[in-house]
Amino acid sequence: MCWIECKDLQKEYRCGSQVQMALNHVNFKLEQGEYVAIVGRSGSGKSTLMNMLGLIDTPTGGSILWKGEDILRFPEYKKTRIRNQMIGYVFQAFYLEPSYTVYQNIEMPLLIAGYSRSERRARILSALQEVGLSGKKRQRADSLSGGEKQRVSIARALVNQPELILADEPCGNLDSENTEIIMKLFDRLHGEGKTIVLITHSQEDAERAKRKITMKDGCVLHETLL
Ligand SMILES: Nc1ncnc2c1ncn2[C@@H]1O[C@H](COP(=O)(O)OP(=O)(O)O)[C@@H](O)[C@H]1O
Ligand SMILES: [Mg+2]
Repeated sequence: MCWIECKDLQKEYRCGSQVQMALNHVNFKLEQGEYVAIVGRSGSGKSTLMNMLGLIDTPTGGSILWKGEDILRFPEYKKTRIRNQMIGYVFQAFYLEPSYTVYQNIEMPLLIAGYSRSERRARILSALQEVGLSGKKRQRADSLSGGEKQRVSIARALVNQPELILADEPCGNLDSENTEIIMKLFDRLHGEGKTIVLITHSQEDAERAKRKITMKDGCVLHETLL
């Protein structure tokens, strides 16, 4: 049995009489511990696929199986738990709470999960160490550089020890030096056994993954093993 499997996934957007097929019968398999890059032109459906995998949005057709179970049929409380505890999200725009400190930003998913104060502290300090920002925990998020903000968002994605990390163009707003720092971090997380799906515009960054999926017009055009 496959770990995660998207079967015949479809997503239609309707604007009046116009129908946009953002995902056109996509099949996609992911095994635990894999590092997969998704590439393709803007508008090819990469973010749509990731949002379906991450239970951020719902497909208009098809199914998503996690260890054989159709998660789209799960009740809402179970989906919320999966989003909070099994998936770590990293976005191009970071989505940090600007007036919160680094520590408070990383603490948010732990508060939702209901960890005690001391457990939260231990997890936050360990995540900060993982991303190399131990010295900045009391700094406000809006005082950080772009690269630091992305490292905080990765720490936040990691604190609940998710099974799956979804990153949608995490280096899209970063210069080459910070891109390298983030890409090295993903390399290390992959080495530690994390499952990573990375959307990127950069062929060079995609080559660091072990498998590359190219999307076009809502379809998987081809897959390459790297
Ligand atoms: N909320 C939406 N409403 C209408 N169309 C959308 C919406 N989100 C995405 N689309 C369309 O779906 C297609 C795929 O978009 P997206 O998944 O964001 O592509 P990518 O991430 O590869 O740039 C595009 O044609 C886009 O315009
Ligand atoms: Mg996108």
